[in-house]
Amino acid sequence: MRPLSALILAFFVSALLLKNGRGASAGAEPVTCSGIVPMRYRNDKISITDFGGVGDGVTLNTKAFREAIYRIEHLKRRGGTLLYIPPGVFLTESFNLTSHMTLYLAQGAVIKATTDTRNWPLVAPLPSYGRGRERPGGRYMSFIHGDGLRDVIITGENGTIDGQGEVWWNMWRQRTLLYTRPNLIELMNSRSIIISNVIFKNSPFWNIHPVYCSNVVINYVTIVAPTDSPNTDGIDPDSSTHVCIEDSYISTGDDLVAVKSGWDEYGIAYNRPSHDITIRRVTGSSPFAGIAIGSETSGGIQNVLAEHINLYNVGVGIHLKTNIGRGGLIRNITVSNVYMENARQGIKIAGDVGDHPDENYNPNALPVVKEVTIKDVWGYGVKQAGLLHGLKNAPFTGICLSNINLHGSTGPRTPPWKCSDVSGAAVGVSPWPCSQLTSTFHAGACSSNAF
Ligand SMILES: *[C@@H]1O[C@H](CO)[C@@H](O)[C@H](O)[C@H]1NC(C)=O
Ligand SMILES: *[C@@H]1O[C@H](CO)[C@@H](O)[C@H](O)[C@H]1NC(C)=O
Ligand SMILES: *[C@@H]1O[C@H](CO)[C@@H](O)[C@H](O)[C@H]1NC(C)=O
Repeated sequence: MRPLSALILAFFVSALLLKNGRGASAGAEPVTCSGIVPMRYRNDKISITDFGGVGDGVTLNTKAFREAIYRIEHLKRRGGTLLYIPPGVFLTESFNLTSHMTLYLAQGAVIKATTDTRNWPLVAPLPSYGRGRERPGGRYMSFIHGDGLRDVIITGENGTIDGQGEVWWNMWRQRTLLYTRPNLIELMNSRSIIISNVIFKNSPFWNIHPVYCSNVVINYVTIVAPTDSPNTDGIDPDSSTHVCIEDSYISTGDDLVAVKSGWDEYGIAYNRPSHDITIRRVTGSSPFAGIAIGSETSGGIQNVLAEHINLYNVGVGIHLKTNIGRGGLIRNITVSNVYMENARQGIKIAGDVGDHPDENYNPNALPVVKEVTIKDVWGYGVKQAGLLHGLKNAPFTGICLSNINLHGSTGPRTPPWKCSDVSGAAVGVSPWPCSQLTSTFHAGACSSNAF
């Protein structure tokens, strides 16, 4: 069995065990995202084939998608409309979604991005980034895009949205990109969004990017891209609130889930935090981070809970990353019940990560990082247990570690932990972290309700 399919299988089995185990022991349903966004049934249903869509993998269906969505937008039906994508491969250029719609991918349905990048539309930079993330100026519109929407559902029977990212990765590798690569799906300024039971494959850049959104549920998704595909982050909630991600398998070339909130002076001015973010029962692999906060954190990031995370072959298991010039308050972050197997570093919290949009960032805009709880972590093959590097003029406080066992292959010359400019406490942590953290939770080092 190929390692990927073995992993996917392991994920389903563990998800099943987890579900049953929890149900039996607690005598209750497992905690889920349900309730954050109501699942709507749409009476009005149309099919992409009603608009001339042809699923032969060759015909370009841009007109069919745009006309179908135009019909949903302008011929409003009570309760919204479902757009059905039957089995088949529907090649298309990028398109916009509209409010009150369900994009439903049947089993065997594939919405496939064209590899002809010449006429790919451009959109303005995000105000909280001031420019494209990788190139100055505008950016290529995401393959599936939405701005100012509400009540949007992307679901079905695990059909596939395929970004055919290779052509974009090669432009990045050859340094021929004129603008920042497109996300696979970006929803801006939108609320009441559900993305579930869909497979995302080979995104040109980040996979799922909710930005300036609220009430977003993402569950039962599979996100895959090759390990060496550049910047193919799985899910990046960005300046968004009440986002719940659960029961998903993600294996990509960059962070699996990264919570963000804007970049340096642009993010500070736009001042839009991410808060109330839940990440639960996520499994996957990444050469970078499993669960990340940052590195773009300028609007602040608060109230994040990540739990029941299984990571195999990752760069850094849990990574909080920010930088000088970022500003922003990172506070009340809890990560618990993490299993990791083969990691370069188990836990990393650092204030010197990520680049700047330009030279105009304010070096005195220091991030504030406090109240970070990491508990119940078990790791095997973790080469270095942890790195905790705060900033000299802005030490990270309330860093609380408990019940953490990271077994590894640390050589005699690699200290298991490295710490500077941090304070907090560590209890039941092996290998033992460092003298900056006290060995009890007394003296207010950690909030009493953290454990
Ligand atoms: C799609 O949305 C973008 C950004 O909101 C807009 O610039 C573009 O004109 C829209 N395209 C279509 C075909 O509606
Ligand atoms: C789709 O895949 C998920 C796993 O990601 C699975 O839990 C779910 O049952 C599948 N849904 C359908 C409709 O096949
Ligand atoms: C901290 O975040 C959790 C969610 O992880 C939330 O339930 C709790 O109310 C937050 N605490 C404070 C003091 O905001």
